[in-house]
Amino acid sequence: MQSMVEILDAQYPAHKNKGVGILQFYFSHKNQEWICYVKADENHLEFCVGTADNPTVTLRCDFFHWLDLSSGKLNPVWGTITRKLKFTGQTSFFKTLPKLDFNVNIKDKDDPYSGFEKNAPKHRKTPQSVIIINASPRSDNGYTGQFVSRFAEGIIEAGANVEDICLANLRIKTCTGCWRCWIKENGCVFDGKDDFYELFEKVNHADMIVYALPLYVDGMPSILKNYFDRSVRRVYPYICSDAKKMRHPRRIDRKNQTMTLLSICGFQEKTQFKALETHFRAIAHNFHIPLIETVYRPGAMFLFNNPFVYKQQTEILDNMKKAGTELALTGKISRKTKRKIEQKITHRKEFVKMTNYFWFDKITNQKDGNDY
Ligand SMILES: Cc1cc2nc3c(=O)[nH]c(=O)nc-3n(C[C@H](O)[C@H](O)[C@H](O)COP(=O)(O)O)c2cc1C
Repeated sequence: MQSMVEILDAQYPAHKNKGVGILQFYFSHKNQEWICYVKADENHLEFCVGTADNPTVTLRCDFFHWLDLSSGKLNPVWGTITRKLKFTGQTSFFKTLPKLDFNVNIKDKDDPYSGFEKNAPKHRKTPQSVIIINASPRSDNGYTGQFVSRFAEGIIEAGANVEDICLANLRIKTCTGCWRCWIKENGCVFDGKDDFYELFEKVNHADMIVYALPLYVDGMPSILKNYFDRSVRRVYPYICSDAKKMRHPRRIDRKNQTMTLLSICGFQEKTQFKALETHFRAIAHNFHIPLIETVYRPGAMFLFNNPFVYKQQTEILDNMKKAGTELALTGKISRKTKRKIEQKITHRKEFVKMTNYFWFDKITNQKDGNDY
């Protein structure tokens, strides 16, 4: 009630029916009674707890009925007839309270779907600058790095500049959800205290962003999730009025950026990436950056720990390079190249047998995780 009166007080100077007097409220709710009043004068509305002497008007009702009345859902005449509201005194004095008005002018922040977002491969130009964010917690020692380096070679061959950044090598503090970055421009509490802002600026300047990551518990590693949490400052806190699925208008004025998802995982099926892709499509929507390609390599660990599949490993990595070139030049990776990258390496039974042997050996000989 107090915060409601504070909002009304802010809107009071522009209100036509100002008056001098007191509105007394007796609210009942769940067998309790709350008594308060609002003092009105020519300039202000003031909230007070308790009973006033000589109120101009008094309202007795259930608190929920008051909420319905003040939000316009309950007509005062109908409320009186149905005995939900009981007025005494000068009822017309209620006009002294302005109607709650939540309209704000943010028309310049509205940000409808652009043609670019609807069909990015058609409208895009060959990227000049590409940033690859390798989100493997094992930085470039992980298998993700093996795929990233070949993919980057391909993009460079297409004529673009590539910067390959390992998130694990940066100090990025965990988002605390304080909303400072939304309320104040560049207001993040960690600006200048960690490496995030520098990375954020680089990402904003790139024409294409490639997110490269190992699948962790059916999703992205926490360092990448934290990077996305810290990136909410890409958008305003306001909400666009036209989007089918709600989203915020973009704050960073980069309309022609695209992103690509490159992910690897331990299990052998491509379906393992389903939840991750759904998550990435939602991020692409919310950050206004179309996801133009996905490239997946399941069974990645097997590929690097089994000498019998060296031929497939070579073919897959060669095609990663090809995929990089195709993506930079056309905005797409051809079906043929994708099929080669995502090819099945071995039979399910063989995969299970070899993988179990691998882990049995590590456990028996107590080998450290950094050795493979
Ligand atoms: C904590 C953790 C969770 C993982 N979760 C999954 C998973 O849900 N599905 C899967 O197929 N692989 C999973 N993996 C396997 C990794 O995706 C796989 O080993 C990958 O090749 C690691 O890449 P990196 O060497 O770049 O870190 C997980 C690995 C770790 C360490």
